[in-house]
Amino acid sequence: MRSIHNSVVYQIYPVSFKDSNHDGIGDLQGIISKLDYLETLGVDMIWLTPIFPSPLYDNGYDVADYCKISERFGTMDDFKELVHKAKEKHIGIMLDMVFNHTSTDHTWFQKALNKEKKYMDYYIFTKEKVNWESKFGGNAFEYVDDLGMYYLHLFDKHQADLNWDNPEVRQELYKIVRFWLDIGVDGFRFDVVNLISKPKTFEDDFEGDGRRFYTDGPNIHSYLQELNQESFGQNPNLMTVGEMSSTSIENCINYSHKSGKELSMVFNFHHLKVDYPNNQKWALGKLDFFALKKLFNDWQTQMQEGGGWQALFWCNHDQPRIVSRFGNEHQYHKESAKMLATVIHLQRGTPYIYQGEEIGMTNAHFDTMDKYRDIESLNHYQILKDRGLSHNEVMQIIMERSRDNSRTPVQWDDQDFAGFSDVQPWIDVIDNYKTINVQQSMEDPNSIFAYYQKLIMLRKKHEVIQTGWYSPLLQEHPRVYAFLRELENKAIYVYANFFEEEISIEIDATLHVLLSNYSTSSLTPSYTLRPYEVLVLSKNL
Ligand code: NOJ
Repeated sequence: MRSIHNSVVYQIYPVSFKDSNHDGIGDLQGIISKLDYLETLGVDMIWLTPIFPSPLYDNGYDVADYCKISERFGTMDDFKELVHKAKEKHIGIMLDMVFNHTSTDHTWFQKALNKEKKYMDYYIFTKEKVNWESKFGGNAFEYVDDLGMYYLHLFDKHQADLNWDNPEVRQELYKIVRFWLDIGVDGFRFDVVNLISKPKTFEDDFEGDGRRFYTDGPNIHSYLQELNQESFGQNPNLMTVGEMSSTSIENCINYSHKSGKELSMVFNFHHLKVDYPNNQKWALGKLDFFALKKLFNDWQTQMQEGGGWQALFWCNHDQPRIVSRFGNEHQYHKESAKMLATVIHLQRGTPYIYQGEEIGMTNAHFDTMDKYRDIESLNHYQILKDRGLSHNEVMQIIMERSRDNSRTPVQWDDQDFAGFSDVQPWIDVIDNYKTINVQQSMEDPNSIFAYYQKLIMLRKKHEVIQTGWYSPLLQEHPRVYAFLRELENKAIYVYANFFEEEISIEIDATLHVLLSNYSTSSLTPSYTLRPYEVLVLSKNL
């Protein structure tokens, strides 16, 4: 039986996964054609980022109709076929519900623009604007001449924020969830869901960009409880995950509490900001390893004590590739990718794999702006230029930070366009596809792919990985991240070297080696971890 403890979720960004109809855009039939691959990997759930009709200002996170399938991805029949064929392989489908905002093309917003009072109340219109910033740059309020009013958009101006304080809006959204439940989906990911509850009145933020007023907002917990009761909450096997932007541990405990009143688990991003200098995404910075360790340890221990549950991840469609970011994609490609995978998969929570991560796909290294597609990157190119940075300086930052780093086509083989499509894809394939691809990974018993398979199998086999108690080890160590998981008399110990230099640590040499990314024959009490080595030891397994 699938549970949050024994499952591993695989995230698909459909537009870049696999093209089946020769248009350079991934689609549902493409996903169906790769179900055997996902079964071989061993995953339990597939999370699909939005597949609904959209004008695509934000690659589908601007939804124009929540109950239809976008033609670019296929038909409703294709979707039902996917749900059905995945179920035959005991894989569930999780849909992405973007309920903080709709596309401005959505009929609700169009009716609002037509001054229909009912629909104006679906959104957040104000007479005056305040100085809040949109997450994609610029002010978060857009003026509509005809109405003489502004509307709030925390993201792009084509993504208008919904008014969750209006009970009719909430009911419309619950109906959408029920619609997909009836079709047979097994889970939902809720986009930036902790931003849905806005304050009653708006004021300028002179300390920040406005987020402190709407993050984990005033009615957030009651709205999520209502969503739960009115839709998925009837089915205890359904898996839900909320994407939480700039949240707190305390709120996340409530969002994901084992009592099941809100969601099954949460995504939080604190560990992915440890290379942002002064918390700024659009600047170059190095990994603050100590901060990373502390965040892992704090979140793991406090969520566990509070009864919350985390989604564990390094990668998604908004993040640069982890092997390029905190690993070494050149000299230690395999070693660092495996080490990074291990520390995520063996923590307490449900691991998520983002397409291509399992073969160690890297950042794109696109060095000209014409190769970029993402609205956030395109906006920030100009914002950084306006701040006085040179073209070269800006390109260095875009190359590190762009969300397009993870949106390039999956590298299936060494043929043209990496076997993703037989025509030029919507975004370029990375030029390392001849050496990093699925076909090659599946032929190599020592591949990153084979290692991910092993991690998934170990989770299924050992309850200590699923539910064992987490305790930090070597907390003050400047180079090694280490932790212990315990259940009854069983235990696993994880020691990970995040650096290229060798490091000696003290271990209990009577333990057994459960897993390592190097060949390890014998243990000695003083053990030298090689570059990016991870050593997993076990007791009574
Ligand atoms: C989070 C999604 O992951 C991201 O891709 C999107 O741009 C924003 N939410 C807005 O929907």
